[in-house]
Amino acid sequence: MKNPPRHPGTDGSSPAIKDGVEILIDGKKVLAAEGELLVEAILREKEIPHICYHSPLMGPIQTCDTCLVEVDGKLQRSCGTKVAAGMRVVAELERAQKARSDAFDVILGNHMLYCTVCDNNNENCRVHNTALELNVKHQEHPFTPKPYEVDMSNPFYRYDPSQCILCGQCVQACQTVEVNETLSIGWELEHPRVLWDGGMQIGGSSCVSCGHCVTVCPCNALMEKSMLGEAGFMSGLSKTALNKMIDVVKAVEPEMGYGAIMQVSQTEAIMREERIKKTKTVCTYCGVGCSYDVWTKDRKILKIVPLHGDANEISTCVKGKFGWDYVNSKDRLQKPLIREGNGFREATWDEALTLVTSKLGAIKQQYGPDALSVIISSKCTNEDGYLMQKFARTVLGTNNIDNCSRYCQSPATTGLFRTVGYGGDSGGIENIAKSGLVLIVGSQTADSHPVLATRVKRAHKLHGQRLIVADPREHEMAHRADIHFRPRPGTDLVWISAMSRYMLDNGHAKQEFLDKWVNGLDEYRKSLEPFTMEYAAKTCDVPLETLEKVAKELAAARSIAVLWAMGITQHIRASDGSTAISNLLLITGNYMRDEGGAYPLRGHNNVQGAGDIGAAPNVYPGYQSVTDPEIREKFEKGWGVAQPLERGLDNHQMVDAILEGKLRGMYLAGEDMIEADSNSNHVASAFEKLDFFVVQDIFFSETCRYADVILPAAPALEKEGTFTSSERRIQRLYQALPELGDSRADWKITQDIANRMGANWNYQHPSEIMAEMASLTPLYEGVRYDRLEGYNTLQWPVAADGTDQPVLYLDGFAFPDKKARLYPLTFTEPTEQPDSEYDLFLNNGRLLEHFHEGNMTHRVAGIREETPERYLEISEELAAERGIESGRWLRVTSRHGSLKIKALITNRVFGHQVYLPHLSQEGPINVLTSSHADNATNTPAFKETAVRITVLPDQGVNPLRPLNPRFSGKPTPQTGVEVERKWKRQDYHMPGAQELVQIQTGH
Ligand code: SF4
Ligand code: SF4
Ligand code: SF4
Ligand code: FES
Repeated sequence: MKNPPRHPGTDGSSPAIKDGVEILIDGKKVLAAEGELLVEAILREKEIPHICYHSPLMGPIQTCDTCLVEVDGKLQRSCGTKVAAGMRVVAELERAQKARSDAFDVILGNHMLYCTVCDNNNENCRVHNTALELNVKHQEHPFTPKPYEVDMSNPFYRYDPSQCILCGQCVQACQTVEVNETLSIGWELEHPRVLWDGGMQIGGSSCVSCGHCVTVCPCNALMEKSMLGEAGFMSGLSKTALNKMIDVVKAVEPEMGYGAIMQVSQTEAIMREERIKKTKTVCTYCGVGCSYDVWTKDRKILKIVPLHGDANEISTCVKGKFGWDYVNSKDRLQKPLIREGNGFREATWDEALTLVTSKLGAIKQQYGPDALSVIISSKCTNEDGYLMQKFARTVLGTNNIDNCSRYCQSPATTGLFRTVGYGGDSGGIENIAKSGLVLIVGSQTADSHPVLATRVKRAHKLHGQRLIVADPREHEMAHRADIHFRPRPGTDLVWISAMSRYMLDNGHAKQEFLDKWVNGLDEYRKSLEPFTMEYAAKTCDVPLETLEKVAKELAAARSIAVLWAMGITQHIRASDGSTAISNLLLITGNYMRDEGGAYPLRGHNNVQGAGDIGAAPNVYPGYQSVTDPEIREKFEKGWGVAQPLERGLDNHQMVDAILEGKLRGMYLAGEDMIEADSNSNHVASAFEKLDFFVVQDIFFSETCRYADVILPAAPALEKEGTFTSSERRIQRLYQALPELGDSRADWKITQDIANRMGANWNYQHPSEIMAEMASLTPLYEGVRYDRLEGYNTLQWPVAADGTDQPVLYLDGFAFPDKKARLYPLTFTEPTEQPDSEYDLFLNNGRLLEHFHEGNMTHRVAGIREETPERYLEISEELAAERGIESGRWLRVTSRHGSLKIKALITNRVFGHQVYLPHLSQEGPINVLTSSHADNATNTPAFKETAVRITVLPDQGVNPLRPLNPRFSGKPTPQTGVEVERKWKRQDYHMPGAQELVQIQTGH
């Protein structure tokens, strides 16, 4: 019998308390932390029912009364009581036991026990387990169904009101952990139930399908549709047959009692273990790094169960919880393909790899190693990526290597390298949540990093954290912010530098910290001369009063965490913008502490890892320079192969080099470069010129059209390895499914190609690849698979003894003198500005339910149902000016290309700014964007594009479907489940306090 674990990183038992106050539990002296919840202290000692109490993260809900104990002679809910020194707790005497049993009996009045044919009977059902624990024999309060239909309207999960025990955990999760604020309980209804937006169907409410409610539901009231009829041996029977079986069980129950029936169901639950496989994995979408178990039955993905991930605890977003159909999509590449005329034919691995090696070898022979290049995917594991860069450097002999962090993250890394020395988040999600103020610049965090955003929303809602958002668009975080302001795109460097100057001029700089830990203050101060508040207000087009208000908030904040993303990093001054942020954090003393700090939010699941493993033209693994002779020598020794002397080409330069005839062959894994790079027409024209192009992917992407050979790779669920998330957190994933068809893990394919070209590698398992990388990479020195077993994680840098650093710089900065460096900056205007011909500013970014252009998420049926097509967000002002309604077809034209798209009128964008979410492969954003790039890193300036629109005659349906949460959802914010409203009901009495009366269900 296993209840779900309550605590992160453990098997479910609370960690022992070493220092604390003494209390008595059933006569035994125990130590407990003063102020902790009593239920936690008791659970360290013994099992006690606690149906509505989940974990410290969720906090006390106090709806079920199953945790009642005597405290100093008085019956109290142990989940709602805080530990105080000397407390005398009695859990095992009759009064408390009877009260708990009575409370559970009330619950059974709201829940029919049909465990043997229930899809939730998997040994972790809290209601089932409590029935066993309390040895329930009979039921006093008869089960009475509630007069509501089962709600099947959400694509991913269903709600069965009649099985709902009104514990409120789903509401607590929605209101205080995810903070989507959709769920509540209608306590005043004659028949209380869970409500979506106060009483809507689930589909079409503001529910974003994060699945958190389903994860925490202690029974089968909320269930993943993918589980229905699948988990049990008999749960897949027809409804009529199931009802008949339930009737039989009910008929024998008065005579047999529950004991024997529960034993049968327990046996059936144990039998399920044989056929349901539970594998720990890490999300393959964004850089938050959520981890969870995936339950599979053969190839069917039954559900995702977050247990205790270090990044996400029990949270997920819609993609992590429900976005897995792509793994079994019929579109998966399962055989190698070789170009034949205008199409492709299937080939054997041997045939395909023979062709690949002979062509790459011939190009190397004829034109030299630097006529070849390798692009590494940041969706692949660290081990996949490490082998690919090693292949480029040791087998091909070139540093022409890159990954997609060039499209978004390189400028943030550069800004941090310039100022503090490491290219990663200075702390973790926990440290963001602790901060006094969160400043979000150019990141629509709730869409792009949803679970991380929940921690900010929670701290803001419950713990008084201040939230300031600078963004041209009013996305969810902007809507929630204490201050939202909209700087003119491309000018963030100016107002951020003005904040630094304000702090220095007005005595708010942390002088002692600067004196001790920071170099370059005088020169930096001089460089700030032009950046007055007035200049910033004028340049950024923000009212002076707003900037002054922001400055005062920053000056007063206990600590400041800055979160930024592509709104900063996709401009021509992207590295400088990132540097300005880090400068401000230094001036305000927000490094070297466990709150505040710098958080560039990494896009892909392993974009941090792809940088770490050396998927770049200038650095080996661990950001070690390829032009430093000592480092080069170390790798030459380690790999036994002479190394190229010069830095190679980044992917932006590769495209130009192909067009110049210098680069002739490319090996690209898992990157749909045509869709991802800016100015796709330009990239496509380059790919057409390649002599030989091999693409390795799980689907036939747009980029595959230009390939000569396509190699079928395996997605994360089909392989082992590690990912490194935005928090620098290294986590293991395990193989949940066999490789589909003839597809293979990327590291195996690369090894095969390398060996056919004479490498003689013999890696049997990714752990051996990691061990080699760790031996050459100080940042990963102590990273070993045994230290990452299961849910264990490490945040780099990891010392040889396995000590990691959740917070960077606590002992000084990553420079030889341990001092940070202020970096002077100047401002230049962004490139493309709206003018009379192209009169609109085109903004773009992610959308919660799709990942980037949707290669994976468009293959998830439920996501497609909610958000099938792309659209252009148009402000109400612009719509009125041009006579546009939602659904109207438009032609959008930039200086670089044009596309046809439907309009969506929204109040999230303003004036002459339009917004195109990344969600479509049909005409992606980058047909419109230019080849302008950041002057330091060549990251494309995706956010500097001017367009014009032509209103076309066709009017289509609204591109948002009524099922989409943005269509008509109206959240109902409240603080938690508001249990006091339940306690006020006439029919409620606390068990043991006086005679118990069940909540009437109106029969
Ligand atoms: S939800 Fe749990 S207690 Fe209820 S019928 Fe299913 S297994 Fe039994
Ligand atoms: S649906 Fe919500 S209130 Fe009902 S049992 Fe599940 S978690 Fe509890
Ligand atoms: S997409 Fe990001 S936030 Fe969502 S579950 Fe995956 S890692 Fe977590
Ligand atoms: S666990 Fe304490 S009231 Fe439910």
